Amino acid sequence: MNPQPFENELTFAAHRENGSLDEFHRAYADAVAAVESELGASHSLWIDGRWVEVDDAYGVTSPADGELDIGRFAAGGATEVDRAVAAASDAFDEWRRTHWSDRIEIFRRAVDLIRERKFELAATLTLENGKNRAEAMADIDEGIDFLRFYARELERNDGYEYDTGEPTPGQHCTNALEPFGVFAVIGPFNFPFAIFCGMLSGALLTGNTAVAKPASATPLIAHKAVEILVDAGVPDGVVNLVTGSGRDVGRPLVEHEDVAGVVFTGSRAVGRRIRRTFFDLEKSGPVIAELGGKNPVIVTANADLEKAVSGVKNGAFGYSGQKCSATSRVYVDERVIEAFTDRLVEATEELVIDQPRTEEAFVSPLIDDDALERYVEICETARREGTVLTGGEVVSSGDRSGEGTADNHRAGDLSAGRFVEPTVVTDVPHDHELAREEHFVPFVTVHSVSGLDEAVTKANDSTYGLCAGLFTEDEAEIDAWFERIESGMCYVNREQSATTGALVQAQPFGGWKASGTTSKFAGGYWYLPQFLRERSRTVVG
Ligand code: NAD
Ligand code: ALA
Repeated sequence: MNPQPFENELTFAAHRENGSLDEFHRAYADAVAAVESELGASHSLWIDGRWVEVDDAYGVTSPADGELDIGRFAAGGATEVDRAVAAASDAFDEWRRTHWSDRIEIFRRAVDLIRERKFELAATLTLENGKNRAEAMADIDEGIDFLRFYARELERNDGYEYDTGEPTPGQHCTNALEPFGVFAVIGPFNFPFAIFCGMLSGALLTGNTAVAKPASATPLIAHKAVEILVDAGVPDGVVNLVTGSGRDVGRPLVEHEDVAGVVFTGSRAVGRRIRRTFFDLEKSGPVIAELGGKNPVIVTANADLEKAVSGVKNGAFGYSGQKCSATSRVYVDERVIEAFTDRLVEATEELVIDQPRTEEAFVSPLIDDDALERYVEICETARREGTVLTGGEVVSSGDRSGEGTADNHRAGDLSAGRFVEPTVVTDVPHDHELAREEHFVPFVTVHSVSGLDEAVTKANDSTYGLCAGLFTEDEAEIDAWFERIESGMCYVNREQSATTGALVQAQPFGGWKASGTTSKFAGGYWYLPQFLRERSRTVVG
């Protein structure tokens, strides 16, 4: 098999390189206006190829503007989960027998459909989860990449079927990886297209069927993703969508006796609960879980400080720190810490906080009131027990009160959104809760260290092991860091972002330690086999 070459979809970068950013921004503004004009509708569940209405529904508003009604969404429960799992179980036999090359064709059609609708999908994200233009488009591009790459991997591996030979005369042996059955696909709010599509395509391309449950804050983009798969030809019952809360939909789904496997991306607490459930119910299928991070960056005395400042600023504050990969603690050599923090503060204060639908916006709103409370709490702790170098204030809590002090870098009307200042803190001990726990808001701690050795020891002193960054121009330091750092994703001198923004295939994404349950990474060569179980067949004669 000669698989199609793989190329990342890089819409924003392509426009920048072609000098056509104006065109990008015009198309984006038009798409936002078009999507906005269609908001506010009611949405049902998608089960067994039909829309299913339920009595309960919940409303979603934009985190950037609480007066913008995204829509009303069916609030599923155990009954709908039962129906969806039954549909997925019934559809399994035919889907697993569908030749892998036919499944690939369906997913390649889905890629074409996403590409045709990419501005509309990105605009949907901007309105629904508050990503700025570049971040939202990158989320859609990554969804395209996952579908393309996994289809290509299935093709490159001939559907994971092998002839394993004739070990003794007359014994004809083959080996195949085969699907498990129904997968629960449970997604997070922060990459509600890319990660949702990535997990779903992993399950479906390999011949499993799925019941998908998106984060309750981001059901609209999940509806569009499922609509595209159905339009591309995914048959009835193979993909089912049940919206609602983690408690009412996620939990009964994971506990359902006919759910064979789970693919989950979200917090460590929920991931741990899902694993425990599978263990208690003695299920042998996989729990493929990608979890949180507390991602360290080291800046040595040999670093290019401009690169380091840019990498840390973008890593910590892109999508307002609401990324598992966000830079959250920085260990800086004591000889350069003053120069580094001065520049970091300056660069942070230049970041534009604005409505994400605008061209200039960098800082995004926080997704919900829990996140806002978390931010307020940790900033109070930081003021009490450390030093806040910049930030620490709420720009707007969404109640139109005009609260906030961030006039220096605020633009537009933010009073109905949840906006906070990117925050840099120092003078907290390395083992302080602020520097240990994932907070998922724009908040970074900076710590002084005597050299690389102490920095790596402290960077590794964490239960997490997702992403890590290093800034140095010294090759020996790079080698020493790679030798010791405990992290799934390791980046050196990455000025565009110290720890975020992995690209499918080139930078497979996953975590060590408590950052995940799997040692095989999303967007990497070994991802798909996790959705499969091995069968060896021998025929004598
Ligand atoms: P979350 O854990 O709160 O929710 C994730 C999903 O789980 C949602 O769909 C939620 O409704 C569902 N859920 C909640 N309780 C459940 C239960 N008891 N049983 C089954 N499902 C349940 O996470 P979030 O706030 O949506 O996302 C942020 C978290 O995700 C952060 O911790 C972040 O680090 C992590 N994340 C990790 C990666 C990665 O690749 N490692 C990527 C993105 C996000
Ligand atoms: N894949 C996302 C990143 O690398 C989470 O930032």
